[in-house]
Amino acid sequence: MKNSEILKPANREEAELLEKLDPKRLPNHLAVIMDGNGRWAERRHLPRIAGHRAGVKAARAVIETCARLSVPCLTLYAFSLENWRRPRAEVDFLMRLLREYLKRELPTIHKNNIRMLFIGRSEELPEGVRKDIADAMRETARNTGMKLVVALNYGGRAELADAFNAMLDHVRANGLSAFHADEQTISEHLYTAGLPDPDLLIRTSGEMRVSNFLLWQIAYAEIYVTETLWPDFSRARLLEAIVDFQKRERRYGGLGSERGRGSSNHGASPGSSVARATEAAERVTRSRRG
Ligand code: FPP
Repeated sequence: MKNSEILKPANREEAELLEKLDPKRLPNHLAVIMDGNGRWAERRHLPRIAGHRAGVKAARAVIETCARLSVPCLTLYAFSLENWRRPRAEVDFLMRLLREYLKRELPTIHKNNIRMLFIGRSEELPEGVRKDIADAMRETARNTGMKLVVALNYGGRAELADAFNAMLDHVRANGLSAFHADEQTISEHLYTAGLPDPDLLIRTSGEMRVSNFLLWQIAYAEIYVTETLWPDFSRARLLEAIVDFQKRERRYGGLGSERGRGSSNHGASPGSSVARATEAAERVTRSRRG
């Protein structure tokens, strides 16, 4: 099928970008740091929360486009552990917005065979949010299409600490006197166990930082930073980022176009078991509680 049949272009710019896109070389896992909602609102003399509302619309468009293109996995950084430092009213608004989003969009997500997963310290979230995300994961658990991963109350260093503690618990629980963790073992104890590592990381609004996002997993990711503020990140901007990604030569520390040997998740097949992701997340949560 032609790109323009998979994704009906809404304008000439989208049509031109779709022409350039190679559907066989899409990222296996696209991760996005959605930044700039506040600045978008400030530039319009609107309250910050108006920027977050507009940000949800942009997220919706990116989710839909990735699902139509059959990108196997999309991760959105929705709320970091550090975001609790924001004014209480803004934090409450963000939580409400997520719950509204789930209530409104879950039927469409489900209908489109998308599987929803959440990564982060979910046990520290307000009870209503915890319930809604558990429902969303349960309802979409059998879906086999795109995996939509929402990083919520997420921090990359916290994820690594949780993984190390889960491994220590395993050592204690089994009375092991020796234990050797290799890269594969560590990957399997992360919240993202079973998911491929991101091969493209997009950050909007121009900041050249990774902000504690998927620190282990982005070891070999291509990074694409755009000045566009998140609410303005349209389908065309996404296609532009993917076209740019497809022009890059990925060497994984080697000399040519070889695939890497290092991290266990390189080139993981799109269908690799997410059951493992959920199990690992549960294991980590259990060990933190214990
Ligand atoms: C950053 O803008 C964005 C966030 C804190 C995340 C909020 C994301 C959304 C509302 C999108 C919705 C996502 C889903 C999954 C429904 P900022 O406030 O840091 O902007 P600034 O840097 O300009 O202040």
